Amino acid sequence: MDLIKTIRERKSFRAFKQDPIPKETIQEILTLASHAPSAINLQPWEFIVVKGEERERLSRRLIKAYKEKQISCGPGNVKPLPKTYAKRGAKTLELMNPFFEEMKADLNQFINEGSCNFYGAPTAIFICLDDSFPKARFVDIGLVLGYLLLIANEYGLGTCPIGLITAYEDEIKELLNIPENKIVVIGIALGYPDLKNPINRFKSPREDIGNFIRWIE
Ligand SMILES: Cc1cc2nc3c(=O)[nH]c(=O)nc-3n(C[C@H](O)[C@H](O)[C@H](O)COP(=O)(O)O)c2cc1C
Repeated sequence: MDLIKTIRERKSFRAFKQDPIPKETIQEILTLASHAPSAINLQPWEFIVVKGEERERLSRRLIKAYKEKQISCGPGNVKPLPKTYAKRGAKTLELMNPFFEEMKADLNQFINEGSCNFYGAPTAIFICLDDSFPKARFVDIGLVLGYLLLIANEYGLGTCPIGLITAYEDEIKELLNIPENKIVVIGIALGYPDLKNPINRFKSPREDIGNFIRWIE
């Protein structure tokens, strides 16, 4: 495995083939992902893997909830977002636009309903965190998520983290019997990417790293 190549290659896929992923493969990916470091080796993550008919049921429930509540993909800010970030988000959507035009698809519908449908991926994974932990443990969840995305790429699988589903946490908990004291932190669409779908040609850019670093020396 060439880690740097994998890091460069990985991107979010938003259309998947129906081919199921062998359970052993998913198990291996999660085993490797859990090599991620965590504070005091607490390994605070919990994975819920949904596939088959249950996965279909989940999408139906989430799309229904989306149509009722109309909560869209967004950063869910608690204060007005500084311009730099707002601009960065808008730029990404702008760059995606030609692909939606090519697909004759509406951007908002594609992203919001698509997210609720895990973009048609045969497997949806949720990472949960016990609510007794402090917010610092979200760092550990972010790490295991990052590992998972890279490892899946190495197995020839595509992923898309799905944060939108947290807006529909109640529905997910009810459907999947997740106890009240668990926080559903993130969902992940996992499957073999449909490389014929135009949206999967999209690769989001990164700003010059100089814009993010302040050297103190
Ligand atoms: C925490 C988190 C939540 C995300 N939620 C969504 C989502 O709900 N729907 C979606 O289409 N993409 C979602 N994404 C994917 C981002 O849009 C994507 O990572 C970003 O545009 C950078 O593109 P890349 O992953 O292709 O490098 C999410 C990513 C992260 C890390």
